[in-house]
Amino acid sequence: MEIFRDKKTLIDYVERQKEMGKKIGFAPTMGALHEGHLSLYKIAAAENDLVISSIFVNPTQFNNPDDLTKYPRDTERDIALLKNTGIVDALYLPEVADLYPDGLKSKSYDFDGLENEMEGKFRPGHFDGVGTVVEELLRQVKPNNAYFGEKDYQQLAIIEKLVDQLHLPVKIHGAPIYREANGLAMSSRNERLTPVQRDAAKVIHDTLLKVNDWFRVITVPEINKRVKDIFDDQRGMTLEYFEIADEKTLKQTDFFYKDKKYRAFIVVNVGTVRLIDNLHLD
Ligand code: PAF
Repeated sequence: MEIFRDKKTLIDYVERQKEMGKKIGFAPTMGALHEGHLSLYKIAAAENDLVISSIFVNPTQFNNPDDLTKYPRDTERDIALLKNTGIVDALYLPEVADLYPDGLKSKSYDFDGLENEMEGKFRPGHFDGVGTVVEELLRQVKPNNAYFGEKDYQQLAIIEKLVDQLHLPVKIHGAPIYREANGLAMSSRNERLTPVQRDAAKVIHDTLLKVNDWFRVITVPEINKRVKDIFDDQRGMTLEYFEIADEKTLKQTDFFYKDKKYRAFIVVNVGTVRLIDNLHLD
C-alpha cells in the first residue's frame, strides 16, 4: 500500500494512475477504522481498478471541542490494518495545510435546505465543515467513484448535493450500515463505550426496528411518544432527537403520504458518546 503524507505526492500519483486509464474508487475517513470502513473498501474494490482512502480528523466539522479532542486516533494501527487486509492501494494522510491552504476555516454552503435539518440543527456549522473537506479531497483525489456510509445518511445526501451543485466529475455511492452482532451501528465512536454501554446501546437499533413495525400502523406523534418513553426508561442514555423524515427532502413528517419514502433518524448520547443511526421504513 502506498502512503502519501502530502498533497503534492498524492496528486502526482493520481495523475500517473489517470494516465494509465485506471478507474479510482475513493473512501475518505477520519480513521479509527472498523469493519464498516472495510465494507466500503470492498465495494470500492469491486467497482474500480484502484482504491484510495484518506484519514483526516477534520476539525471544522466538530462543533463540540471536547468531541474533537476525544475522537479516537491511532493512525499506526489503521495503517497496519489496511496493510493486513490488502484492499486499499493508496492511503492519503494529509496535514491541515494540504486541505486548508488559507487556514482552518469552512466555506459556507447552501445545500437547498438539507443542511438545516436534524444534524444541522444540533451541530451548527457541521455540514459546512464536511462540505469544505470533502470538496477539497474530491478535487485532489479526482476519483471516478466515492463511497460513504449510510449511517451518516444526511451527510451522504449533502455530499450528493455538493457534487451536483459543483459539477464535480464523480459518482457518489452510499453503502449500507454495517452493524455489530447486537445491531449497534459500527462507528469509530463505539471505541469510547464501556462494554456495558456497548451492550445497552443495542436499544437504539431495536427501537428503530420497532418503529418499522409501527410504520403506517399508528400515527407519527404516537410513534414519537413511544420512542421517547423507551429512552426515558434507559439509564445513562439521553435521546437527543428522533425524527421520521422524507428520505429525499429530509424534512420531518407528521403524516405518512402514500407515495413518499420515509426514514427514521435517531441520535442518542450514551454517557458522553454521541451515537447516530437511521433506518429506511419499509
Ligand atoms: O464520515 C466521515 O468520516 C467524515 O465526515 C468525512 C466524510 C470523512 C469528512 O471528514
